[in-house]
Amino acid sequence: MKKLIKNGMIATDADVFEGDILIDGEKIIEIGKGLSAEGAEVIDASGKYVLPGAVDVHTHMDLDVGIARAIDDFYDGTVAAACGGTTTIVDHMAFGPKDCSLWHQVNEYHRLADGNAVVDYGFHGVMQHPITDDRLRELTELKEQEGISSVKVYMTYDYMLLDDEIFNVLRAAKEAGVVITVHCENHGVIQQLRKELVEAGKVEAKYHPLSRPARCEAEAVNRMIHLAAMAGDAPLYIVHLSSAEGLHEVIRARAEHRPNLGVETCTQYLILTDKEYEDPKEGLKAIMSPPLRKDNDREELWQALADGDIIDTVATDHCPFHFKAGKAEKQYGKDDFTKCPNGAPGVQERLMLLFSEGFMKGRISLPQVVKYSSSNPCRMFGMYPQKGSLEPGTDADIVIIDPAEKTKIDAGFIKGASDYSCYEGMELEGRIEKVLLRGEEIVNAGEFLGKRGDGRYLKRGDSVLVKQ
Ligand code: URP
Ligand code: ZN
Ligand code: ZN
Repeated sequence: MKKLIKNGMIATDADVFEGDILIDGEKIIEIGKGLSAEGAEVIDASGKYVLPGAVDVHTHMDLDVGIARAIDDFYDGTVAAACGGTTTIVDHMAFGPKDCSLWHQVNEYHRLADGNAVVDYGFHGVMQHPITDDRLRELTELKEQEGISSVKVYMTYDYMLLDDEIFNVLRAAKEAGVVITVHCENHGVIQQLRKELVEAGKVEAKYHPLSRPARCEAEAVNRMIHLAAMAGDAPLYIVHLSSAEGLHEVIRARAEHRPNLGVETCTQYLILTDKEYEDPKEGLKAIMSPPLRKDNDREELWQALADGDIIDTVATDHCPFHFKAGKAEKQYGKDDFTKCPNGAPGVQERLMLLFSEGFMKGRISLPQVVKYSSSNPCRMFGMYPQKGSLEPGTDADIVIIDPAEKTKIDAGFIKGASDYSCYEGMELEGRIEKVLLRGEEIVNAGEFLGKRGDGRYLKRGDSVLVKQ
């Protein structure tokens, strides 16, 4: 069955133009003006924007963090993604059991996601301490057999890697053509500050950002950039950049033309600040790592997005826990913020936040919204142009947004398992009208129409960070 999207304002990462998109089955087959196709279902997009389906390359569905498990499984979390215009996710795996092979978590994540996800999905592998020759060999196996062309390392948390291990992983990744994604924070300083704060009875949510200062991020970003350079310019992708200090390290690396470097920020660091932690009860909702920062951090991150060549992607780090209902895992931190599971929801809100607070408020252009939410994530992680573009021959993953309508973020908006949104109370400019996944309408006027298990696993190819 053919579908014809008529008279929309089509937005790519280069341009916005009025036109039509003809879809046959799962693929876009033609883009132009005045298109017609006999028997095609016509979708009138007059006055509406038509964008590539958004791609969130940093989610944690069903993440096991030891003290709790993220409450969105691959069904609930991807329903939320779909309703927010995200048609592809690349999920970061949890650490596995001590000394496990990289394959352990790959198999576990197929068990969690296959038959459940409602949008297309891939996985980033995870490297955990200790690093052995077997683990390094598995980098190539995962890429060749599973299309897992990116693997995460952590500089903090359990099973974090030490510098010598990171260096060895980077060299092996360079050899294997695999991107190393990294959570950059200085573990030693954080551990010391947390200990001192708790000993001094400073256990409310407002102390969370003080336990993880921006310089912890900046130091680790700087260290990683130099480690990657010493590993022969290994492909490196810094996740969830949150601070101006961290950003300054990236700007320096860009000025030095450091090759093979990708950088991600997340919606929460663009929209929210550490004011969220002021209320000792409500503040638990926003406990995540890195923490929310100050107004100037937020403004510098927006400016970097507007400048264009500094940050590559905007993701979410979606990792929700209950705040009040059910087990209310966030309440584990009510007497001590260090006991609160880290993470917050966001996969549903991201595209509309970028559209409304970015484009409609004049901070970034609409092509930049497309670039940061879909095309660049796909370039970074070997999915472009099948995903993240609107071109004949590519997957018909499409979002239609009506700029004349509004989106109120309230309890009725939330489609995931979470009982709150960090953005509750905001009224956004624009509303998602329809979402298509490989030609199938999976969302209409806020209603999810897809089916459990319709998401397809993506074997990913080479990142642009590898090809450079
Ligand atoms: O607080 C967060 N971000 N939790 C999820 C794990 C991570 O660090 O990405
Ligand atoms: Zn992280
Ligand atoms: Zn994360």
